[in-house]
Amino acid sequence: QRQPVLAERLVAWQRLEGRHHLPWQQTRDPYRVWLSEIMLQQTQVSTVLAYYERFLQRFPAVADLAAAPLDEVLAMWSGLGYYSRARNLHRCAQAVVAEHGGRFPDNADALQTLPGIGPSTAAAVAAFCFGQRISIMDGNVKRVLARVLGWEADLSVAAHERALWQAAQAVLPERTEDMPSYTQGLMDLGATLCTPRKPACLTCPWTELCVARTTDEPERLPVKKRK
Ligand code: ADE
Repeated sequence: QRQPVLAERLVAWQRLEGRHHLPWQQTRDPYRVWLSEIMLQQTQVSTVLAYYERFLQRFPAVADLAAAPLDEVLAMWSGLGYYSRARNLHRCAQAVVAEHGGRFPDNADALQTLPGIGPSTAAAVAAFCFGQRISIMDGNVKRVLARVLGWEADLSVAAHERALWQAAQAVLPERTEDMPSYTQGLMDLGATLCTPRKPACLTCPWTELCVARTTDEPERLPVKKRK
């Protein structure tokens, strides 16, 4: 059974109160969106900002990145850490050029076959750039969804995480045009209001719909890993 009110409220809130000025939000170019998602995986927004623009000046399109020597890619990455990300970035660019004619695939299943692109990054690129109705599922989003849906199952169990993703699929917006705002809204809620400690429930667009909120102990979810 669909619950359209969740998506409607999040989309409306994102448009009014969410973040809109990040450089990767000013484009639907999958190359730029993909690059931002990889940089943001283990690095905070404030750090990524400087690297992102410099990287794009040196490698304006996926073909430029694919053609560059790995050493140069690593030099541009220097300081961001987790260098396997930069190696996969380079391999992914080469695969896009060699296997996809220089264009990123337009759906999460195909994106996920590329080096360094996992399920959540694939979903982010597909939702932001192509409006695909598919839910992202990073750590912040798992927390937000576990709380709003009252998800008591241990998410360190793969089957339970899969079930949460299926529940996330059932609350997506109906309209593909709403997928970018909805996806950014999930990220913005997790980063700004629905924080691990002391979530700001009073200003949350989902407050009256949130199961965790009705328990008066929203921090209890998601359930801690079984030891
Ligand atoms: N972290 C991962 N993706 C992001 C995005 N699109 N905006 C802000 N933070 C993010």
